[in-house]
Amino acid sequence: MNDLSLAERALDVLTCADGREKTARSRAHAAAWFAARKAGTPMPIGSARPPLQPARPERPELLSPRDVPRRRPGTRAGRQALLHAVAHIELNAVDLHWDIIARFTDVPMPIGFYDDWVAAADEESKHFNLMCDCLEADGSHYGALPAHAGMWRAAEDTAEDLMGRLAVVPMVLEARGLDVTPGMIEIFRKAGATDAVAALEVIYAEEVGHVAYGSKWFHFLCGRHELDPKEEFHRLVQRYFHGALKPPFNEEKRADAGLPPDFYWPLADETWERGAPPADAQTLGTPFRRFFAETAGAYAILRHPLPKRFAGVPTPR
Ligand SMILES: [Fe+2]
Ligand SMILES: [Fe+2]
Repeated sequence: MNDLSLAERALDVLTCADGREKTARSRAHAAAWFAARKAGTPMPIGSARPPLQPARPERPELLSPRDVPRRRPGTRAGRQALLHAVAHIELNAVDLHWDIIARFTDVPMPIGFYDDWVAAADEESKHFNLMCDCLEADGSHYGALPAHAGMWRAAEDTAEDLMGRLAVVPMVLEARGLDVTPGMIEIFRKAGATDAVAALEVIYAEEVGHVAYGSKWFHFLCGRHELDPKEEFHRLVQRYFHGALKPPFNEEKRADAGLPPDFYWPLADETWERGAPPADAQTLGTPFRRFFAETAGAYAILRHPLPKRFAGVPTPR
């Protein structure tokens, strides 16, 4: 195991089906990477052929978003569904970060690129375990409920395009996490679920870094190819991401992560007006509840227009 390259370690995570085992391997490989870096003897990046889809446990059952049962977030079952959906997102995020490491080794990148995605994969592994701990403390577990089948689609769509991957995964999907997490924290705070609040606050703080890594390496590659970052971002999101981005945006956290408003507002759902109040728990609450009531999964709606029955719902301000 000690002489494995980073890409081979990524493959070891991607081909492991069990969530707890996958995250244990992920954390061990991250520790080995950073120990070697600290010792001044970085491990080779190597190469590997990652599977088109990562290995997954038998449970949860993966359903199309429209078939995932709806639950109200104001109930215990609804809060469990929320934690379950986040656990599912985090498990996909673990694989997404190892996948970007293994899939694009033919693109020469500075070693800091690998530092960042190994660190992000390590944090996602912690996030998955935090969500599992919360579920288990409440008498449930990851796999107890169905989850979204479509969460890997962004990875498949951008399997040949590193800049497309950076634009869509960290800079759109993970940035969306910054928008919805404050509303989620509020739901658990109101319910007095202090462990879930603490876990989600860790996730919220660390996700800013993942979006920032995306923005950093996207800008780096734009510089290498003499491309205008904003124009290129718009082009790639329109190419690989089907549907408008959903306001309200957490402009402050997005700015912390190096995502300026002129990157995402031109791609936003036109039924929203720019200049809406800044994203906070209150403004995020309504779309967040709507979003989870419909899908019980955090990112999937970004890929699908709002269902017709929401067409008349007034836009929250
Ligand atoms: Fe995460
Ligand atoms: Fe993340």
